[in-house]
Amino acid sequence: MKIFLDTANVGDIKTATDWGAIDGVTTNPSLVAKEGRDFKQMVLEICEIVNGPVSAEVISLEADKMVEEGKGLAAWHKNVIVKIPCTPDGLKATKILEGQGIKVNVTLVFSVNQVLLCAKAGASFISPFVGRLDDIGEDGMQMVAESVAVIKNYNFKSEIIVASVRSVEHAKKAALVGAHIATIPFKILSEMFKHPLTDKGIEKFLADWKGAEGKV
Ligand code: G3P
Repeated sequence: MKIFLDTANVGDIKTATDWGAIDGVTTNPSLVAKEGRDFKQMVLEICEIVNGPVSAEVISLEADKMVEEGKGLAAWHKNVIVKIPCTPDGLKATKILEGQGIKVNVTLVFSVNQVLLCAKAGASFISPFVGRLDDIGEDGMQMVAESVAVIKNYNFKSEIIVASVRSVEHAKKAALVGAHIATIPFKILSEMFKHPLTDKGIEKFLADWKGAEGKV
């Protein structure tokens, strides 16, 4: 499974890139607004750090405007993936942009039927939001598992990006159900390293080494 970082924070992206952990980045208007920086400048910086797909989202809601905005975003850098919401206009824009060789990540996806429609529109990436489905009492990861099956059944080119990841458990399950990608917040990625036995093991190795000093 590929791991993307779900953030617009350049410092966190640098850190995770140095860990060798990430294959791409996803941003959204909320994450961009949180940083309070110039959107284009920030996306360009991210593209220079990460050698992989970097999603930047359109704000327009009408298909023709999404296409125009998407073309503008894609022209910023070869790594930019145009992120578009899962609406009829969004899928119309997806079909046009993908037809012109511009890759699209369809976002705000909450059902398997939406996944099917995104795949048929030719989306390179499709982003189901597991956390937000869990929030309303549904099983987000079950929906991801079913989406992965649909993509495999018909050999669609689309890759499923598990988004709205809220826990290390989400990250593990995304890999177990065969999701192509999980986009993970920096805090959750950092937690994925942790295990008490790793820390305890290091402590013991160092204590034993210290005790044997001079003899080895
Ligand atoms: O990738 C989408 C993600 O940023 C949304 O996460 O936690 O706001 O549902 P959340």
